[in-house]
Amino acid sequence: MCGIVGYIGKRNSLPIIVDGLKRLEYRGYDSAGVAIINAASEIKLFKKAGKIKEIETQIPVDVFDGNVGIGHTRWATHGEPNDNNAHPHTDMHNKFYLVHNGIIENYKTLKKKLSSEGYIFHTDTDTEILVNLISYNYINHNKNFEVAVRLSLCEVDGTYGIACLCVEDPGKIIVARKGSPLMFGVGQDEIIVSSDASAIIAHTKNVIYLEDGEYAVLRRNGIKLKTIDDEDIHREVQQIEYDLEQIEKSGYDHFMLKEICEQPDIIQNTYRGRIKFETGEVKLGGLASIKDKIFNAKRVIITACGTAWHAGLVGEYMLETYCRIPTEVEYASEFRYRNPIIRQDDVVILISQSGETADTLAAMREAKKHGATTLGFVNVVGSTIAREVDAGTYIHAGPEIGVASTKAFTCQLMSLVLLTMMIAKEKGTISEDEFKKIGAEIELLPYKMKQLIDKKDYFKYIAEEFKDAKNFLYLGRGLNFPVALEGALKLKEISYIHAEGYPAAEMKHGPIALIDENMPVVFIATKDGTYDKVISNIEEVRARKGKIITIATEDDDNIADYSDYVLRVPKTHDMLQPIINSIPLQFLSYYIATARGCNVDQPRNLAKSVTVE
Ligand code: AGP
Ligand code: GLU
Repeated sequence: MCGIVGYIGKRNSLPIIVDGLKRLEYRGYDSAGVAIINAASEIKLFKKAGKIKEIETQIPVDVFDGNVGIGHTRWATHGEPNDNNAHPHTDMHNKFYLVHNGIIENYKTLKKKLSSEGYIFHTDTDTEILVNLISYNYINHNKNFEVAVRLSLCEVDGTYGIACLCVEDPGKIIVARKGSPLMFGVGQDEIIVSSDASAIIAHTKNVIYLEDGEYAVLRRNGIKLKTIDDEDIHREVQQIEYDLEQIEKSGYDHFMLKEICEQPDIIQNTYRGRIKFETGEVKLGGLASIKDKIFNAKRVIITACGTAWHAGLVGEYMLETYCRIPTEVEYASEFRYRNPIIRQDDVVILISQSGETADTLAAMREAKKHGATTLGFVNVVGSTIAREVDAGTYIHAGPEIGVASTKAFTCQLMSLVLLTMMIAKEKGTISEDEFKKIGAEIELLPYKMKQLIDKKDYFKYIAEEFKDAKNFLYLGRGLNFPVALEGALKLKEISYIHAEGYPAAEMKHGPIALIDENMPVVFIATKDGTYDKVISNIEEVRARKGKIITIATEDDDNIADYSDYVLRVPKTHDMLQPIINSIPLQFLSYYIATARGCNVDQPRNLAKSVTVE
């Protein structure tokens, strides 16, 4: 997982690459570097541990003044994040410069082979092996840059997105992809390579996506696309759908805060044009081709990672409760490796913000291999999962830059509501009356969400009270159990406070031992079928002097008697309540993390999309 940027054209490449790396920094930020071919056709290399913002001021711009270059922001997999292991990497002869996203799985075997040929290595990375392999193949294949890259990639097991420069062939960048996203923007006499569209969009909206097993030779005004098996490819240029403003902070302190606050508007993009509020009738155009498979599915399997997996758990409750379809939810990382039983009449739903998560992608391929129908709920348009699923529907959350997922989660929930309604209508498992109620509540949802955004100062005040807590428990039942899990994950990710989510009733089977007067416990206690049971669970914590924070509906006059703090939320239909309930939890994490001085947009050790196993 990392960010790659490359530029070839007429302009000075350094500022374009540095700007692109800043936009991609959410993908990895432990070190960064650039390699630029300058006016004298020399390659200049600068790389360092730290963030691109700190590094950029140290680059001597006068000698990094060429119009061909590559850059990288790293998320280490092999070798600690230090100056030496930062990318770009170069070969023993300093002829090639390579940036790489992914893992070269057979790097040890390749290293042995190269060592026996006299190659010496200076870093702990797998990437350095690949660049030396290119160098080796170059020397052994008539010094042909393209052939050397292609043949080297044929020897590699694992995943890569790469961009490579050759000092003896300075008019080209060669890029390739297998398992790690890579695309390039095609401008007027210039090409900008990037791991995603955010580094390209300031320059052009015309893009070409590279597919797995393909490479491209990029010149200032020419592109050659081929498979690594040496077959020619023709690919049409596509248009990026969003603009620069959508990926900037618009005056907010952090992307995460912006993304939390824009949810009332963004959620409408998920359902716009897909539902008739009066009747509750839903049309998901992207699923038309597999409609029958969905309606006749004997079983649904939802697979995803992290926050998207939590959305999947909510989906399980909805599909079983309202559509009566047996549904299982699996961590994609477990699913892919445990030889799962997948039948041809199963529908496998993949949920992923990025559409590039390695485990989710592999789970999708596993499901396809067994003949199941795959359905994607993906945010990033044109991402690998979105392109490879049998059918899908974009969640339309727009670019999510904050590493901690917020708006993508609520839009994933909304997409699952729509799917549930579509199936329930067909199967007749929800009454007409209830459909109308849900439709009406969806129409009101943005207003209700907005009421919560307006209460952010109160959430900030509560956060101040708990900023020094060492642990947190989040408890909920039914549809709100996954919301508790998500609340705990959000807090852990950005504030580094240890937090656990549990089904509220399960607490007494273990976690209750943790409770004392120092333990804050967040109860999701909005009024639904389990409300009375949740109140009993609150009593159990009160009896042990835990500090109780409740998420409760506005009409609940009772709850203050049981709580130290109440976070009031508007009441909505049960299916939509998790969307509403997530917002105060997002704010709580955000404000606790900022009060502790944490970098919420780029929390330590995390990357926005995990494109390695
Ligand atoms: C969310 O806050 C996380 N950073 C993480 O759990 C994320 O949801 C997970 O890695 C899945 O990513 P995806 O949705 O892009 O597949
Ligand atoms: N495996 C390479 C490394 O550890 C690339 C990691 C990345 O994707 O940033 O340096």
